[in-house]
Amino acid sequence: MGRRQELERRQNLLARFGRLIAAETRLESLLSLISEELKNILSADRCRVFLIDPYKGELWTRVLVNNEDKILRVPIGRGVAGFVAKTGSAVNLHSAYRDARFTEDLDRLTGYQTKTVLAVPLTGHDGIILGVFEVLNKLKGAFTEEDEGLLRILATMAASFVENATLYNDLRRSHVETIYRMALVAEFRDQKDTGRHLRRMSRFSGILARAMGLSDAEAEDIRCAAPLHDIGKVAIPDSILRKPGALTADEYEEMKRHTIYGGRMLANAESRLLRLASRIAMGHHERYDGTGYPQGVKGEEIPMEARIVSVADVFDALISKRVYKGAWDISEVKAYFQEQRGKIFDPQVVDKLFENLDRILAAADEENRRIQEDEAMQKPTPTANAQPEQPEDHHLRR
Ligand SMILES: [Fe+2]
Ligand SMILES: [Fe+2]
Repeated sequence: MGRRQELERRQNLLARFGRLIAAETRLESLLSLISEELKNILSADRCRVFLIDPYKGELWTRVLVNNEDKILRVPIGRGVAGFVAKTGSAVNLHSAYRDARFTEDLDRLTGYQTKTVLAVPLTGHDGIILGVFEVLNKLKGAFTEEDEGLLRILATMAASFVENATLYNDLRRSHVETIYRMALVAEFRDQKDTGRHLRRMSRFSGILARAMGLSDAEAEDIRCAAPLHDIGKVAIPDSILRKPGALTADEYEEMKRHTIYGGRMLANAESRLLRLASRIAMGHHERYDGTGYPQGVKGEEIPMEARIVSVADVFDALISKRVYKGAWDISEVKAYFQEQRGKIFDPQVVDKLFENLDRILAAADEENRRIQEDEAMQKPTPTANAQPEQPEDHHLRR
């Protein structure tokens, strides 16, 4: 390729790069997009985008290890990327293994052999280093000074987009965390556990939502909003919520109102997630055949998210062991959902439950493992003062 054509090619790629990164607001997608584009523009074999985790003082990046997506962490100061993050100066190595700044650990982990490396800092608007762009093994020869200039321009172009996506990501994470902690308030008062049920049913809800044909983003929203389904229980008096044994008819009517209370607490929120949670709280005890509560709406009149959460919620209640009941056998659980398919539950959601049963049970195992790890770290266990006699679970007397 002539010099002129090469210049033209790069200009086109640069324009394309600008267009693409401006259109992507989600951090994960933005980073993989950047890394794919940098690889092409610089004619490199690989590209890694490292970001600084300010809380841990480390750089992190996503890499493939044995075809598995992994997060890799590097202390600031270690290796080429660590050096760039620490000093803010670019590094261009023509023979990586001969340079003291290079460390072999990433190669060993990823089964790769780095020959040439070009790395530049990614600097935010206030001059603080946000991360490092690193391209590896130029397809022909070594990286030139011109390549270095180009990578610097790309880093400057990308910086504000990465900065905004990071901020958005942090904001969303703290919003989701606050929602989850709100849900824990209601759950803790009722079951005195640290949200085991919430964590599992929320995972199931996300899997079912995706299986129902919703987008990744919509399914993720449902996963995050699902834990609030019973938030309305905070308005139910202790005398009912914590009553051992059966409720009177009046008490049961009041108990059923947790749907209305929850729906109202969350209604008309500005946050899309909270509005979604409001529909879930209001609709999670409606039945497909119209015999549920509080409104007795049926079929597609019940919001899709509520039909999904209803299945996830009851499924978890049945497969789990509680103080007053053992866990049901999975074959009993399946028979129950088969029996209630089209009565209590949306038949389509039940079909998706059966089709994805392995994934859902694997998600339950994974959450249980994490819960155990979390509980091992915080003593005394929150269940230590649980009362011997437990109130009946409203999940099972719908
Ligand atoms: Fe409920
Ligand atoms: Fe529940």
